[in-house]
Formats: sequence, C-alpha cells, structure tokens
Amino acid sequence: MRWRPAVLLPFLLAACAKSDAPSSGKTVVRFLAGPDVGGGAKEVIAEFHQLHPELLIEMVEGPAGTGTREDMYSTSFMGGESTYDIVYMDVVWMPKFAHQGWLRPLDDKFTPEMQAQFLPGDIAGSRYEGKTYRVPVQSDGGLLYYRKDLLEAAGIAPPNTWAELAAAAKKLQNPPEVWGFVFQGKQYEGLVCDFLELVWGNGGTLIDEHGGVHVDDPAAVEALTWLVDAVRKDKISPDGVLTFQEEEARHMFQEGRAVFMRNWPYAWNLAQQDGSPVKGKVGIRPMVHGSGRSPAATLGGWGYGISSFSKNPEAAWTFIEFASSREAQKVAYMKSGIIPTRKALFDDPDIVSKSPHYKELREVLETAKPRPVHPQWARVSDILQVHLSAALSGQKTPEAALKAAADEIRPAMAR
Ligand code: GLC
Repeated sequence: MRWRPAVLLPFLLAACAKSDAPSSGKTVVRFLAGPDVGGGAKEVIAEFHQLHPELLIEMVEGPAGTGTREDMYSTSFMGGESTYDIVYMDVVWMPKFAHQGWLRPLDDKFTPEMQAQFLPGDIAGSRYEGKTYRVPVQSDGGLLYYRKDLLEAAGIAPPNTWAELAAAAKKLQNPPEVWGFVFQGKQYEGLVCDFLELVWGNGGTLIDEHGGVHVDDPAAVEALTWLVDAVRKDKISPDGVLTFQEEEARHMFQEGRAVFMRNWPYAWNLAQQDGSPVKGKVGIRPMVHGSGRSPAATLGGWGYGISSFSKNPEAAWTFIEFASSREAQKVAYMKSGIIPTRKALFDDPDIVSKSPHYKELREVLETAKPRPVHPQWARVSDILQVHLSAALSGQKTPEAALKAAADEIRPAMAR
C-alpha cells in the first residue's frame, strides 16, 4: 500500500495553509517538489519573482522519497483538486499521469523547435502516445563515485566489474569508520534504479519491449545476489544502507566514510564544495557491471507539466518557460548540481570549468536507459521494492524474492 497518511498530513496541511494566504492579489502557482538541496530552486523562483511581480510561485518542499510525492500528486488529482498547478515530475510518473488525463498536452507551447534544444533522452521521456506532457529541467543517470586518493595510494585501478569493486572495497574499508560501498538500499524507487543498473550491466532486462517479464531470469538473480552479498556476506556495505536514499548515501560518502558510492550526478558539486572533507578526492565512472559485460545507467530526470485541474495554466507556463531557460538551468547547476537538459549548457564555459568530470558524465547520460515506459510502472516498482528489500534484509533468498516478484508483476502488467 503506497498511501501513508501520517507522512503526508504535515505537507498537505502546509499546502492548505498556504492556499489561504495570498492577500496581495497575485496569481498563485503552486507545485510540490523534494527538499531544495543547495537552494537552486529557491534562487530560480526569486529571480522569476523579480521579473513577474504579478505571480507568486509557491514551491511546497515535500518529502525526499519520490514515491511519497507521487502519491501526494495522485491523491490530489484523484479528488479533482486544483492544489497543484505545476506538476514537477519524475520521468517515470509521466506515462501514468498522462494516461489518467491529469496533464495538459504542451505541444502548442513546447514546439518541436524548442524541443530540439534539449537532450533527446529527456525529450523521449516527456512524450506519451504522440503528445508532449513535460518540459525536462533535470537530466539524470546513475554513476559510480570513488575515492581517487584512496585508490591511488593503494595502487588500485578504478573498478569496472562487481568483483573488482568488492575486492577494492574490502581492501580499503575500515568499518565502522569507513565502509566500502554505499547505495540506495531503502524500499523505494531509488533501490529499483540501482538494481536495474546491475541487471542491465549483467546482460539482463526486467521487462522487454513486448511486456515480457524477466524479473526472475538468471541475469537478475545474479545481480541481486551481488547486492545482497555486499551487505550480508562481503560486508562492504553497512546494515544501515537498507535505510539509505540518495542523501544518506551522499552524506556518508561526503563525510569521507565510504570508498565507493552509487548515486546520481547531483552529488558531484556538493562533494566538491568548500568545506567538503572529500573535495578534490573524488572520481566518477560508469557503474560497475558483471564480468564480461558492459556498464549501464538508469535514466532519471525531472520536468514540469501542467495539471489538467489548474485554474492558472497560462501563469504556470510562464514559470515553466523561465525555469527551463538556459539562465535558470545554469543557476540550478551552479547551486544544486542539477544536471541541465539543454544541450548548449554542456559547452557552457562556466559550467565546464567547474566540472572537469563533464565529458564522462555526458557519455553516461547519452547512453542511460529508461525504465519501462508503462502506465503500470508504479505498481511494478512497488512490487519489486518489497521483494528486493526482503532479500537485502535476509528474509528471502535472491532467487525466491525475484520469483515472488515475477509472479506478482505478470498479472499487474496485464491490467
Ligand atoms: C532521481 C532520478 C529519478 C528517480 C529517483 C529515485 O531523482 O532523477 O528519475 O526515480 O532518483 O530515487
């Protein structure tokens, strides 16, 4: 069950309290987002308010867990509410939201000429059944971060394969002070993203293009076995990793307490900022893969759509146009490390000089693979999350967990 009233209530109350507030005669445009790590979104909104004093953008900073925010949007739309004008969406929510009729098509506003200025993967992730429902503002792909200094001092080359990572981690870790490998191990969407990279990186797939379910294929079982072993057998990951989302992993890595980390590109700028204990000591590379295979990254990313229930769609568009501009995306990168979606920013001199890792990053992003584009993805992901978690916590073997997941996913896909 995804509905968690105790978690949602404070955020819903905050949103309601705000909706009574404007006495200034301004048109209010509201959206729900995650915590604004680094402050980039607030700065973009402040700049927008300077240009458009007649509009008031209310960003509700919701919980970090993406599934919880998806539930909050869904609940509001199911009730036909106009609480949110803009829908700040993960790439995987869009097919479901569009399928339900909760989003306005944006094709008359976000023209093909405009779309051509964005990375193709981000545009593909914004279209459903021939229409565009999202303007992408954040590109994302999973990466392996490593402590360059520790590896160099030990004469160890950065790992390509799972086995190489585990061997290096065992050698360099010193638990509980310094752990070998941290990732997103909590029961939520992030865990599925991490798992998919291991499955793809082992030559497997979870769901093929015809809807065939391969969740319990040997390639997937091997991938999960490696991850479970990292926690339970090799002990290169702390038990606490089962509660980690992106930020918990980043904090541990940034504090100098992990040798390797799987995370999204946003963690780079934060690790490099002044005062960071690992500043200048971090390298990135594609995620490790199975022996004899190639690396893979899960394509992530965020963008803005307009709710079908919004009473202020024009004002919402005015903000979306600004927030997806070159200037705004540059602010979001400089402050929060949010990877742009506009191609031109990958050659921007200020960004490139701040980002020696940009070349590798662009390569990872251009080859990142989307999760299955399906209106039932949220359900499929929920099922996977439960069973992956049961394996990580030792309640089930990887094989039994994936068999159970496959048995539930097959009928869910057919719905
Ligand atoms: C990042 C990705 C998003 C993914 C989420 C999982 O925010 O951009 O696509 O679903 O992480 O935690």
